[in-house]
Amino acid sequence: MNARMAGPHWWHGATLYQIYVRSWRDSDGDGYGDLRGVISGLDYLAWLGVDGVWLSPTMPSPDHDWGYDVSDYLTVHPELGTMDDLDELVARAGQRGMRVLLDLVPNHTSSAHPWFVDARSGQGAAHRSYYIWADPAAGGGPPNNWRSVTGAPAWTFDDASGQYYLHNFLPSQPDLNWREPAVHAEFDAILRFWFDRGIAGFRIDVAQGLYKDKALRDDPPAAGTGRMAGRSGLTQVYSANRPESHGVFRDWRAIAEGYSPPRLLLGETWVSDLARMAAFHGHGDELQLTFNFPVIFADFTAGALSGVVAETLAALPPGECPVWTASNHDISRFPTRWGGGDEAKARLALLVLATLPGTFVLYYGDEIAMTDVNIPAGGSRDEISAGVAARAVRDRARTPMPWDASPSAGFTAPGVRPWLPIGGHAERNVAGQRDDPASTLRFCRDLLALRRAEFGGTIASYTQLPGPPGVWVYRVGGLLVAANFADEPACLGELAGPPLLSTSRATAGQEPAGQASRLGPWEGVIVRDGGAVT
Ligand code: GLC
Repeated sequence: MNARMAGPHWWHGATLYQIYVRSWRDSDGDGYGDLRGVISGLDYLAWLGVDGVWLSPTMPSPDHDWGYDVSDYLTVHPELGTMDDLDELVARAGQRGMRVLLDLVPNHTSSAHPWFVDARSGQGAAHRSYYIWADPAAGGGPPNNWRSVTGAPAWTFDDASGQYYLHNFLPSQPDLNWREPAVHAEFDAILRFWFDRGIAGFRIDVAQGLYKDKALRDDPPAAGTGRMAGRSGLTQVYSANRPESHGVFRDWRAIAEGYSPPRLLLGETWVSDLARMAAFHGHGDELQLTFNFPVIFADFTAGALSGVVAETLAALPPGECPVWTASNHDISRFPTRWGGGDEAKARLALLVLATLPGTFVLYYGDEIAMTDVNIPAGGSRDEISAGVAARAVRDRARTPMPWDASPSAGFTAPGVRPWLPIGGHAERNVAGQRDDPASTLRFCRDLLALRRAEFGGTIASYTQLPGPPGVWVYRVGGLLVAANFADEPACLGELAGPPLLSTSRATAGQEPAGQASRLGPWEGVIVRDGGAVT
């Protein structure tokens, strides 16, 4: 069935929760989180009010990139659990009304994947064409100027078989050749394998990267600067971002639509241009959801954020569902990046992200305003960022979930050294916030409940309204939201309707009544839309 099924879809107005499995809960005391740890935390997620979880890579891997280097797409990493554990996780999540997405890595495999082991055995190997091989340049050296994510050449010479192979990430992550039809057939089967097992969909790693230029033309110099510009000084015009990738997503969408409910494809669409992000939705026949990196990298100001939101909504084809998130395992957590650790700013960010139309994705710990954790020199476990001077290590946003204030943070057994340092748990942890109605965790939970009640199953209408400088005011569905992105209080005139939720409430259900028209510094409020803001 190729036609797009009519909505509503479960992810519309929903909240997803990203679990970096190794860092969430350790059930067996080895210092690494695992699937049974996730199972034991499902009640917490149901209490919090999430509709689905995305598990960062669960497939076997030598872990040069912690699972983003897959050596077998059809089972579970033994360090994380078993297929039975995953089946149980999906079933138990389902009993609590939550769906489970896995991470799919189609741009590259591990060099330990049997396909690559065979491919490098000789130029005539059966799987040679699964990867991208090229002879040295005329004068010797790599075939072209392409650079990997570390800034080093994206080509490694394979002595045994006498050619270079391409890797846009580590040399242990050879890029697949999507010009090879057999690669399509392999991934079609991988999708069906997991969908048949009840997996609700995939987050698709490096979605913009699959196809490369057939002629291997040099990438041009980078035009822009800033966080979205590459570290290599080049723009990935030919080494990624080729239009042919859209055909893959059309094929996968047709597969996803063959299931009931349709399976969800959520792309890691790491592009700086919202029109290009929107293009991954095709004509409603490619990815249903796309991660919005321009929002992630926007400044934390009313003007910048409202501007990107407006551009996003204008760029998406009609009926397509936007995605809002601000943290993940590759970047600084937003309570640090946007909030500088200030909890008031983290709450304001949660308030606006959770009241925008579409799908909201929390990264584990966002709900308690978890900040980045300082990784001591020599303590990094991430080969990609550790190898690049001047690049902040990604481990800072992958540290264990702080469940309580104990030395092991309730993440692992007492006395066990966790795989990454625990930090900040004395100040911010789940146990300390769960029973405190004034906490960020309880605020977030109430926010998700309001969100589900107001927006569940819909893509709410959104209109920005005029507001004083530094204040972002909008109507969304039946709500009005006003968010003050300033160190000074702001006066709004009169906001009609009683406050439903405020970032500054002291007690759940006891919002500062009647004060919605005056916002404190970094305060945000949600009121029932009474018709007008005067
Ligand atoms: C994505 C992942 C990142 C990984 C990279 C290579 O960007 O989010 O963690 O290193 O792809 O797979």
